[in-house]
Amino acid sequence: LFIPLIAMSQTQPNYDESKVPALHLPDPFVSEKGKQIRSVEDWEKVRRPEIFRLFESEVYGQLPKDFDAISFEVVKENANPFPEAADLEEVNITVSRNGKSHTLRINFFLPKFQKGPFPVILLINYLPTYPDGKLVDEAFWPVRELIQRGFATASFHAETVAPDDAKTFQNGIISTLYPEQIEKKDGLKAFGAWGWAAMRAMDYFEQHPRIDAKRSVLVGHSRTGKTALWTSANDPRWAITYANESGCGGAALSKRKYGETVEAINNRFPHWFADNFRKYNGKEETLPLDQHLLPGLIAPRAVYYSSARGDQWADPKGEYLGIQLGSRIAAEIYGKKAVFEKSFEELNGPVHHESVGYHIREGKHDLTWEDWRIFLEFVSNNL
Ligand code: GCU
Repeated sequence: LFIPLIAMSQTQPNYDESKVPALHLPDPFVSEKGKQIRSVEDWEKVRRPEIFRLFESEVYGQLPKDFDAISFEVVKENANPFPEAADLEEVNITVSRNGKSHTLRINFFLPKFQKGPFPVILLINYLPTYPDGKLVDEAFWPVRELIQRGFATASFHAETVAPDDAKTFQNGIISTLYPEQIEKKDGLKAFGAWGWAAMRAMDYFEQHPRIDAKRSVLVGHSRTGKTALWTSANDPRWAITYANESGCGGAALSKRKYGETVEAINNRFPHWFADNFRKYNGKEETLPLDQHLLPGLIAPRAVYYSSARGDQWADPKGEYLGIQLGSRIAAEIYGKKAVFEKSFEELNGPVHHESVGYHIREGKHDLTWEDWRIFLEFVSNNL
């Protein structure tokens, strides 16, 4: 029997809390030069840019913001699956840079028989989406429910800008629009590309007469939950950012090494993160940051996390610690009522504060109607 060496070198995931290493986490309130950070000004001018650069160079890679032109075209290719309740816009967004262009598609539903302007919810999807993907689960993207509650809602398939594949991920905007990123150790990868697409959808919302783009919500599940967080760290136009079960490289603390590790994620999905992230394979303790610093890049805008008890791979406790520690920036710098008093073990229901919130439910890894329903309660208090 031939056992490849690579398989032998892979360690088993740890699910034993007693084996989680003692955590030494970087302090959000001390700058690299040792300055105490207490004011909004010091946070925004000194500490936030330091933390942003660390995430950009060591974890996610760059998310380029420049292009030459953008245009929007509403096309009619598919039947509207909700003709009685919603207007459907299938929008081709064409972006050009240095003489080349790329077109991405968003599917966009607006409440029918009302003028608006409506708040808008964008889901970054990696499953087939309405209307071209009739298979999409109505709980995963509950268009009808969202429309009934007075939201416009849009989605796009992540692969329309970068395939979710280690060999072909550059065959989208990366090679067409940003080829100079390819050789960089902190260059644009799939998460950055998907986030870039969410930003182009926002460009569409901003110029739409029936949309109130200031009341915008960005939603992602799992790999696109990680993406949503990095997108919102880059783009302050999102009022609320929701990462459901985003786990390793998203909500969860990497240094806990519980469930999915940095090595495991980099080996299976080398196209998601900057090449630099691989330096920390098996060496999470040497990371100069951890994921608890990520909500601070979004503050004082709202951030929401959720976990599922059956989703140990994503490390629910690590996700909770990520928001519990991460919310200190909203609380201590921006004065929000955002302190998570309960420990993970004491939780007995959703925790919804001013600008930060969390819930954990029973069941497996998925974005369900229960997640949406609890999250929408938070939205109604924070939008
Ligand atoms: C894999 C991966 C996770 C990711 C998940 C998903 O399980 O290891 O990091 O979150 O896929 O996107 O569903």
